[in-house]
Amino acid sequence: MSELKLPENFIWGASICGAQCDGAWKEDGKGENILDHQTVCDSNKTRRFTHEINPDYYYPNHDGNDFYHRYKEDIGYMAELGFKSMRFSVMWTRLYPTGEEELPNPKGLQYYHNIINELKKYDMEPVIMLSHLDFPYHLAMKYGGWSDRRVIDLFLKFCKTVVTEFKGDVKKYIGFNEINILCQPIGSTLGGIIPDHDFDLNIVKIVPQESQEDMNKRFRALHNQFVAAAKLAIMAREIDPEIKIGGCVSGKCIYPLTPNPKDVLAAQQAMQIPDWFVGDMLVKGEYSYFAKRYLERNNIDNGALPEDAQILKKGTIDFYTINYYSSGCISSDDSVAKDCAMNMFISTKNPYLEASEWGWQIDADGLRYLCNEIYGRYGIPIMILENGIGAAEQLNENNTVSDPYRKEYIAKHIQAMKEVIDDGIELLGYYYWAPIDLVSASTGEMMKRYGFVFVDHYDDGSGTMKRYKKESFEWMKKVLHSNGEDLEY
Ligand code: BG6
Repeated sequence: MSELKLPENFIWGASICGAQCDGAWKEDGKGENILDHQTVCDSNKTRRFTHEINPDYYYPNHDGNDFYHRYKEDIGYMAELGFKSMRFSVMWTRLYPTGEEELPNPKGLQYYHNIINELKKYDMEPVIMLSHLDFPYHLAMKYGGWSDRRVIDLFLKFCKTVVTEFKGDVKKYIGFNEINILCQPIGSTLGGIIPDHDFDLNIVKIVPQESQEDMNKRFRALHNQFVAAAKLAIMAREIDPEIKIGGCVSGKCIYPLTPNPKDVLAAQQAMQIPDWFVGDMLVKGEYSYFAKRYLERNNIDNGALPEDAQILKKGTIDFYTINYYSSGCISSDDSVAKDCAMNMFISTKNPYLEASEWGWQIDADGLRYLCNEIYGRYGIPIMILENGIGAAEQLNENNTVSDPYRKEYIAKHIQAMKEVIDDGIELLGYYYWAPIDLVSASTGEMMKRYGFVFVDHYDDGSGTMKRYKKESFEWMKKVLHSNGEDLEY
């Protein structure tokens, strides 16, 4: 590994999501969200969305990893590792159980005060994500999710509560986790657009069949989220001018499968729609030429109003964040198999890369490539808000887990970040997903473990929730305490 260094003020953070780790789904007044209605996947990696909670199924997010009751212990582990920040989501349904109450739930507010106070004990900076898999079920049923403009104001009421309540304690907010997922049909559910019947979800195998109206709804939802994100930025800066607003994009790094110019064009287009469609909006506050063209070509009515333009222009972001796990390829030849799972995306395998057990290709150079693409387009600071590797693991006879692949994965991505900085890019920090095992977003599995800490909890709901340090724990501690210099594994 080279002698490149990370800056002294580089932010090392831990990333988690309330809907995936809290559990306590009905405790202290919390309302139901859309994830509360999703079962753990079956042997085909397919989750089921049920409107009624069916006692024959296991709904993993009801328990999460029990962070709600164990946040002190877990933040303690993060601090011991050497993380200087924690990015977490404040759940809408903990503060406004249906999304429509007049006043926030005091017990919900207290919980987040407790978390922030715990972080303060260790001098860790809280970074808050305001929407991450926690759309209130009630709003999904009543309004059709984000496709209805009235949801914007309801969300802003929640945001205002949070920003006002934690004024002085929290200086970085992000509106929506991976807002670009709505560019694909799979994103509809996350946008709270839920059919009135039960249905299956499999991000690799089930491509939702969309009617024109479904597509309109999905892009209306995306537009409404753009407006909400912009209004949030404007409002937060009015409440506290020191606040910085980030935008979070699921970093899709797509290469052409071959040097065939048609493949190169296909790759360019594949990055335009999920990545730059939203990137251009978040940073420049406008739909780019290809975004407008895409909407026109697909006859999409996204419900934009003339007065939105000014708001979108005013409420742009201060820093760009990506969740980056893997890369994929694309071919212009439709007969080439789409056999490569990426995070909420399907691509074609790259013969030069290895993959995780879940088929996500491991590509640290892709991180460098993507950061260069982003910085070249936008020139604003970047933060890696999620990066990590999920693996099927179990405790060995020494009550730990041997996870050398995690060390290798992280070391390579840290090395890539050093190169990113050496390329001249303003990279603010790196947040690892996720320091403590939690429930997978795509499959609902606990078996897909990302942590440095193993949680004794399994896909049938069994286990004690007790925590055990994996072998990577001490290694990561060494990495963080050396500011990423000691990467030997
Ligand atoms: C990110 C999401 O895209 O990927 C997280 O923001 C998610 O919520 C993470 O958990 C990893 O995906 P998965 O499906 O392995 O949990």
